[in-house]
Amino acid sequence: MDIRIPRGTQDILPGDSEKWQWIEAKIHDICRRFNYTEIRTPIFEQTELFQRGVGDTTDIVQKEMYTFTDRGGRSLTLRPEGTASVVRSYVENKLYGSPNQPEKLYYIGPMFRYERPQSGRMRQFFQFGVEAIGSDDPAIDAEVIALAMQFYEEMGLKGLKLVVNSLGDQESRKAHRDALIAHFKPHIHEFCSDCQERLEKNPLRILDCKKDREHPLIHDAPSILEYLNDESREYFNTVKRLLEEMEIPYEVDATLVRGLDYYNNTAFEIMIEGEGFGAITTLMGGGRYNGLVEELGGPETPAIGFALSIERLLMALDAQNAALPVDKTLDCYLVAIGEEPKEKAAVLLTQLRRAGIKADKDYVHKKVKGQFKAADRLRASYTAVLGEDELAGGVVNVKSMNNGEQTEVPISELANYMKEKMEENEK
Ligand code: HAM
Repeated sequence: MDIRIPRGTQDILPGDSEKWQWIEAKIHDICRRFNYTEIRTPIFEQTELFQRGVGDTTDIVQKEMYTFTDRGGRSLTLRPEGTASVVRSYVENKLYGSPNQPEKLYYIGPMFRYERPQSGRMRQFFQFGVEAIGSDDPAIDAEVIALAMQFYEEMGLKGLKLVVNSLGDQESRKAHRDALIAHFKPHIHEFCSDCQERLEKNPLRILDCKKDREHPLIHDAPSILEYLNDESREYFNTVKRLLEEMEIPYEVDATLVRGLDYYNNTAFEIMIEGEGFGAITTLMGGGRYNGLVEELGGPETPAIGFALSIERLLMALDAQNAALPVDKTLDCYLVAIGEEPKEKAAVLLTQLRRAGIKADKDYVHKKVKGQFKAADRLRASYTAVLGEDELAGGVVNVKSMNNGEQTEVPISELANYMKEKMEENEK
């Protein structure tokens, strides 16, 4: 058999899965503190959702979607990102009618993009994203950014760099778009075929082109910041002021345009500098998308959010040798010697677990020495030895693996004894 894992995907094996669980627990925890609640949407959606939501001119829709026809002849797509699905659900379930506005949502789940796999770029990756839908208060922009920064800081990452920009409202964008077309048009034949197509459809995306990034016209292209109308400028100034008051350092980068079509006004990314990455790497990205709810059939509703991948977070943690405090210990390992004691141990285990104790035993007929080795490997705090003699006496021999102390405990009392020991250890 030569069946292998698909390119650009990975198995998360024991040893790593504990890290994922720890990170996921932290996500739930920080979202509770910021009062965001979880939303779970399907892994696949109608293809049209992403064509309309993410945008026809984006790389994602043009080249990266996993699209298939189901047995009923419908075109479906594995979600390449979460925002379009969340907004679809917000509209479909009429969440705009709930008294809780803005609706503050978050999600964790796999996303799929047919990209060229490389470090930090997978075909299946897990995003943690938040979406605050229903407010145009600049304070919610600052809140969303603050949540992302605080999350990375609580993970123990150093060298974070927050970059912000404004893409302006519709009017500002139109003025900037006209300026970009005038700027690029006379020389557009010097650009790649994608950029030639982008000129009329979405010239902002030329600024983000990986092939043409060294072209001098990109460097002196008209900056969106010069085309912001008063309202957009004021909005951006308030977001920046709030960040300053919250003591969240940032840089403004007028070339930050983001790769999805739905953005306007605030756009931001968090990068990380340092060893193990070479150049600066983008950890996450987000921004405001005030037109998307309406585009997907809902009432005019402002919204903002971000997403980050857990894979890139783990890469950053690895590069900085940041150890996560994951719990890989066992409270009690039962060492059983002889047929009858083994059977009794299986029953005893159930009692321990019902009492909340993390416990295990041997199931592959290891000798006593092997069982003790297993207890060591599993980092058990205690072993409880049950042989023929112990069984006859109705006791187990409990040994602390930390200080070697041994105690005889009646079998019927083992669960209570272990519970007390664990509570003592917690103090
Ligand atoms: P995005 O910039 O396409 O935005 O992706 C956000 C983050 O997802 C990236 O910064 C990166 O951490 C991660 N990511 C993207 N592609 C890959 C990949 N192939 N492999 C590993 N990680 C990846 C969005 O997806 C928007 N929905 C963000 C958003 C939410 N904007 C508003 N609300």
